[in-house]
Amino acid sequence: MKVLVIGGGGREHALVWTLARDSRKPRIFCAPGNAGTAELATNLNVGAEDVPAIVEWARVNRPDLTVVGPEAPLCAGLVDALEKEGLRVFGPSRAAAQMEGSKVFAKEIMTAAGVPTAQSSTFTEVAPALAFVRSVGAPIVIKAEGLAAGKGVTVCTTVAEAERAVRESLEDKAFGEAGARILVEEFLDGEEASILALSDGAHVVMLASAQDHKRIFDGDQGPNTGGMGAYSPAPVVTAEILPVIEREVFGRTLAELRKRGITYKGVLYAGIMMTRNGPKVLEFNCRFGDPETQVILPRLAGDLIPALEACIDGTLRPELVTYKPESCVCVVMAAGGYPGTYRKGQEIHGLAEAARVKDAVVFHAGTKLQEGRVLTAGGRVLGVTALGKGLKDAVAQAYAAVDKITFDGASFRKDIAAKAFKGK
Ligand code: AMP
Ligand code: GLY
Repeated sequence: MKVLVIGGGGREHALVWTLARDSRKPRIFCAPGNAGTAELATNLNVGAEDVPAIVEWARVNRPDLTVVGPEAPLCAGLVDALEKEGLRVFGPSRAAAQMEGSKVFAKEIMTAAGVPTAQSSTFTEVAPALAFVRSVGAPIVIKAEGLAAGKGVTVCTTVAEAERAVRESLEDKAFGEAGARILVEEFLDGEEASILALSDGAHVVMLASAQDHKRIFDGDQGPNTGGMGAYSPAPVVTAEILPVIEREVFGRTLAELRKRGITYKGVLYAGIMMTRNGPKVLEFNCRFGDPETQVILPRLAGDLIPALEACIDGTLRPELVTYKPESCVCVVMAAGGYPGTYRKGQEIHGLAEAARVKDAVVFHAGTKLQEGRVLTAGGRVLGVTALGKGLKDAVAQAYAAVDKITFDGASFRKDIAAKAFKGK
């Protein structure tokens, strides 16, 4: 069996690592991959957003399964293009990927379906947006409609800040076309969790809960990042809440999409705020989360490929996804300066030693191989991950592995998963 994985970050290394352990022992190709995927797969010199080049490679090489990691190629219609070639692809169509590609579309679906979410209004003009912001007051949230590399959301604690965010998006075009329409949204208070679900369009299987750490510094301080670490399970998502999320979030959303003729196939990721009034959706993503995937996939007890294929075939069943009893923690090691400007090309030492730490695995994110050396090649460099009997044990093992790794300017949070022990 031949499997093609699209993307080159920590999520894709975790996907490749999981697929490589599948009992069907597939030959794996990764476009473009990184130094970590190179150990388990053949990296292709094809960018994750280069749809024509991916389609061309797939047309010639006929992978039995393609798994698409990032949102950009999904929103650009990569799945539709590959399916046109008669190929089997895990991931939503362009129409379905609008759940992430357009926050206005996602909100429309949620409102029509009665999915619990923040109240919001949509604007294209500055004056009415500002008037609305002033009438509601702070705190308030301003969101660019489209894909903005994680920078399109501003949580504002003052009206002045919100006014600036409105102008930045609508007037200064800080996010280009992606910010030509904005949502002005009610601020939701609570603890966040990520709930990812597999979907074949009709059936949903929620994956184990996880929590990300979006801010760069300990104690959730400093600017937002792509995610500085994650853990699974997230105790804030209790066993009582899970069926509510399944029914009110995933059930209602997929039913509404079906009503509109859209079959959602792939991962639907709900960012959820656990508020005093129950879970409410902050946003949807049309893909696996990064770094959530790094803590969910190592917990799987069985093969992943049958579950992915069932999503394509419309035969998804809960029995296809089973877990080990262990918890999992991922600590992201980033380049100094990230999420601002940072240097690339620093040599990474200690990877082999880290991999020898019990139950630890180092997922590469921004790395590349050069003459046998592993160099940094991005902001988030590594996702140092470990399983443990409980979260505390997993935290200890993950940080034991982090301690073995060095590169110039390396930075990481020291409090990954600490929230899970709050008050315990
Ligand atoms: P995103 O970049 O779309 O992942 O969203 C960034 C972050 O903004 C989320 O993870 C939340 O922490 C925060 N956020 C988004 N919407 C709201 C909201 N309505 N209330 C409070 N925080 C929000
Ligand atoms: N961990 C956040 C994301 O994947 O969008």
